[in-house]
Amino acid sequence: MPLVTTEKMFRQAYEGGFAIGAFNVNNMELMQGIIEAAKEENAPVILQISKGARAYANIKYLRALIDTAIAETDLPVVMHLDHGDTFDLCQQCVQDGFTSVMIDASHKSVKENTALTKSVVDYAHQHGVVVEAEIGQLGGIEEDVVGVSADDVMSHVTDPAEAEEFVKATGCDSLAVACGTSHGAFKFKAEPKLAFNVIEEIGKRLPGYPLVMHGSSSVPKEFIDLINKYGGNMPNTMGVPEEAISKAAKMAVCKVNIDTDLRLALTAKIRQVFAENPAEFDPRKYLGPGREAIKQMVKRKLHVLGCAGKADICR
Ligand code: G3H
Ligand code: 13P
Ligand code: ZN
Repeated sequence: MPLVTTEKMFRQAYEGGFAIGAFNVNNMELMQGIIEAAKEENAPVILQISKGARAYANIKYLRALIDTAIAETDLPVVMHLDHGDTFDLCQQCVQDGFTSVMIDASHKSVKENTALTKSVVDYAHQHGVVVEAEIGQLGGIEEDVVGVSADDVMSHVTDPAEAEEFVKATGCDSLAVACGTSHGAFKFKAEPKLAFNVIEEIGKRLPGYPLVMHGSSSVPKEFIDLINKYGGNMPNTMGVPEEAISKAAKMAVCKVNIDTDLRLALTAKIRQVFAENPAEFDPRKYLGPGREAIKQMVKRKLHVLGCAGKADICR
């Protein structure tokens, strides 16, 4: 089936108390690992592409991979721009065939964020594309995504009244909220507690409205241990507990962003292959197991989010 927007899947997710997994893609192995997992679990899926991914892989290659993926499956698949930072980038993605874009102006003043988001919404809606926006600031640092420090995560949570006003003023289709999650592998210094009250309060103010949770990798210890055992150096990592993700997915959170956990799965497996087979130099011998590790990680997440088996109702 052709690419879809998030409209129907979010409605089903909200009503059914589950969330859709949004996984970042940068290359063929990630694409295949994610799609294979979604196919085996009969799950709807959001493939998201960041500005950095566009620059790394060339959007034409990624688009061709997605076209192949949707031709080979009958799954509801969304092609989404992750953390778009300008009107021009969002416009380019709409023209490239994305069915969903994120405009992330959360680092600007609320007034500027509102104006920029509204302009993207007006343009995207004219082309049948849905828009995710963000208000409040997440923690963590990744390429092109700079947030607050680990210590400050909880002091930057989204203000529910501001969120309500922002959604009404911009007409955005979903809203990424800061509720204590954080980007990357080094999210927290101590076991985190998410601000479920923020999700609950926005849910009351905007009934039926889909929220998005970024920075939702759980940074599983077994993968960090493998990376460190096989020559890596990633001390003091910490992620969002999977139970907290499952709890949010049962609430108003309809989309959960996961990138770091896929990176960890791929890196751990490649390190293991290299350490155990130092003479190996055929890329298929390490990228193949890496792709399988990505697939298993995605399958695990689809169960955490509760969207395994939900493809049929999202078509
Ligand atoms: O939240 C950001 C995503 O993990 C994408 O990261 O900008 O390094 O592609 P990236
Ligand atoms: P993680 O770094 O926790 O995987 O978050 C990814 C993300 O939010 C992409 O937008
Ligand atoms: Zn993000």
